[in-house]
Amino acid sequence: MKPGKLTLPELAAMKERGEKIVMVTAYDAPGARLAEQAGIDILLVGDTAGMVVLGHEGTVPVTMDEMLFLTRTVARTVQRPLVVGDMPFGSYHVSDEDAVRNSIRFVKEAGADVVKLEGAGPSLSRVRAIVSAGIGVMGHVGLTPQSETILGGFKTQGRTASKARQLLADALALEAAGCFAIVLEAVPVPVAARITEALTVPTIGIGAGAECDGQVLVYHDLLGLTEGRAPRFVKRYASLADEIRGALETYADEVRTGAYPSEEHTYSMPEDELELFTRSGPPSR
Ligand code: KIV
Repeated sequence: MKPGKLTLPELAAMKERGEKIVMVTAYDAPGARLAEQAGIDILLVGDTAGMVVLGHEGTVPVTMDEMLFLTRTVARTVQRPLVVGDMPFGSYHVSDEDAVRNSIRFVKEAGADVVKLEGAGPSLSRVRAIVSAGIGVMGHVGLTPQSETILGGFKTQGRTASKARQLLADALALEAAGCFAIVLEAVPVPVAARITEALTVPTIGIGAGAECDGQVLVYHDLLGLTEGRAPRFVKRYASLADEIRGALETYADEVRTGAYPSEEHTYSMPEDELELFTRSGPPSR
């Protein structure tokens, strides 16, 4: 473990003290570095990479190799934040053995501190198996994008009493299976509040209200790098897409008009060498 790394007992203590946990997704070195400098506690190398950096419509196509590549980049960049490797669709769905093997790859080959997986039900035995292998697991219930088709799309979960009760039961079962924290995605505020109160491990909300022990947002969403309609829970803290597009347009314009590069962006050579160079003939073939 890197010196100064945020530990799982420290995270548990933050819940006890009522200190909010701040998590953001990260997929590359510049983003991870800035997040650490901003004092973010946890970096999730999320399979949202599928949508925000790999050009897919959803998270399902994302592969283990892609996640290992991205996680390695983030993990080698930062010191303090806990780095969570998000297990992609198919990497833990077939068997406990697969789940353990792939979570070990996240830790050994990519330098992740812990892993995250979605759902309860069959995921409970996966969590037990991974934790038994000595690797921390973050759970994820509510809207679980890898099950988008079964859920009927990206929809709020737990809006009836029975579904809310099921969510509470799932979160408690994940805690009992050994999860050190649980993401609650797109669930009504009172349901998230009740789950947060019932659990001893921290909840990290995304579209689950302010009562959760912490919050997570997708890096590209909070910086305004993604455009168009965003889910209700997204708050854009900057409009970087506008700024980046503007800078690129100015660059293209300056190249085309010859305004760039100007003298300040070029290199010179000593006068005598230039003289020699100018007077010398073409190289002999
Ligand atoms: O993959 C991801 O980025 C996530 C967060 C949205 C919680 O799972």
